[in-house]
Amino acid sequence: MSKRKLLCVILAAGKGTRMKSKLPKVLHPVAGIPMLGHVMRAARDLGPDQIVVVVGPGQEDVATYAAPHDTVLQAQQLGTGHAVRSALVGRDLTGTDVLVLFGDVPLVPMVDLSHLCDQHARAKSNVTIMAMIPDNPTGYGRLITTAKGEVTAIVEELDCTPPQRDIRLCWSGVMMFRSEGLNDQLARIENKNAKSEYYLTDMVTIAGADGGTCTYVVAGDAQDFQGVNDRSQLALVENRLQHKLRQLVMKNGATLIDPTTVYLSGDTQIGQDVVVEPNVFIGPEVIIENGVIIHANCYLEGVTLRTGAEIGPYVRIRPGTDVGQEAVIANFVEVKKSTFAAHAKVSQFCCVVDADIGAYANLGAGTIISNWDGVNKYRSHIDDFAFVGGNSTLVSPVKIGNSAFVTAGSVITEDVKPDEMAFGRARQVNKPTSDKAQLYSKKQKKKG
Ligand code: UD1
Ligand code: CA
Repeated sequence: MSKRKLLCVILAAGKGTRMKSKLPKVLHPVAGIPMLGHVMRAARDLGPDQIVVVVGPGQEDVATYAAPHDTVLQAQQLGTGHAVRSALVGRDLTGTDVLVLFGDVPLVPMVDLSHLCDQHARAKSNVTIMAMIPDNPTGYGRLITTAKGEVTAIVEELDCTPPQRDIRLCWSGVMMFRSEGLNDQLARIENKNAKSEYYLTDMVTIAGADGGTCTYVVAGDAQDFQGVNDRSQLALVENRLQHKLRQLVMKNGATLIDPTTVYLSGDTQIGQDVVVEPNVFIGPEVIIENGVIIHANCYLEGVTLRTGAEIGPYVRIRPGTDVGQEAVIANFVEVKKSTFAAHAKVSQFCCVVDADIGAYANLGAGTIISNWDGVNKYRSHIDDFAFVGGNSTLVSPVKIGNSAFVTAGSVITEDVKPDEMAFGRARQVNKPTSDKAQLYSKKQKKKG
């Protein structure tokens, strides 16, 4: 028997009215990655033959985000059944299984999807449903089942009778179909319901009327299938994913001193023996190698922290940054698009933007790299072993050579060659004290 093909259809065309947002619902991020990105990754992990994303009119940004996967336009958002029909109409589906995922159900675990696919193949059902038993079933379609474990209908909450509303077994938004007869059945969905929409859930009764079977599996944990229709559900999903991400990094050997105060992104990579103190926000594209220490209250995006680096407390790092092995960035420092070679050291209250700092180089407290002249931005280079004294301003573009020394309080506008010492400040002059100063000290002494 030849292997059946798998086509994944991701529904992302809905208006997302309840989000009250200009941003299409499926582009709202969860752990720094748009919901649709999470769903596409789950689909890809199944290794299907094709993934198709259904987008709505005016949602070019959704289509752009979905690339390189194919997109289909659902010209009018007439319901989930209509959306699947838009994706499949006119397609040759011979020997294909169709898995439908919702762009607003972002956390679907692989283990449940595999379970669904296995059940679909084993039972040879026409429709296989991923069911769940949520603590709060509000808003979900309820499954009407037989004693034999078959599903005879899914009833949307608005269309439920009071006893049906008490049913706890709900549809999660994931459903799988055998393609034989599918397009014909999708065309028979009607919109005679409370919302006058073409519901995908009607496929259960339509397939049943044709003599097909409909079976289900129950999700391991309904929280993984939380749908997002509004901002409070978005927060529930964020919370769930953060919990999972934290558990994973701790399992892999990192210490989070107070896990619930550390926010991670879906793509965060954290090595072993990393210590993260409380109140740390880790945005997208952050890689943290082994042995890194992140002190409290740091905000990181787009940075690689190499083995043994130490940062914080109160450090903000913006994208395009690379912090070398055992480099140190002390408290109250802001960094943007800069590189630090191994053992570089940045002291308190520095601003390091668009700069390359060499190995063992030292920026004293309060060093400012001034990268912008109001029109253009420039880069500066501080070479290995260079020393910049505290409260200096390096006006980019400048080069500070290997082992050069910049005296404290300098404003540096010209390159400093290797081993040179630069004084970018007025010399100190000491004069006999003034009458005023004497008067002042006399007064103070009296008080003392
Ligand atoms: C839907 C289900 C409900 C299920 C729940 C799971 C239906 C009729 N209801 O309800 O049984 O328990 O999800 O979370 O299917 N979409 C389109 N085109 C449309 C309409 C929707 O692509 O015309 C997409 C949306 O972008 C969304 C998904 O389909 O990703 C679900 O639509 P939504 O309106 O959120 O359905 P729910 O009311 O949550
Ligand atoms: Ca939904």
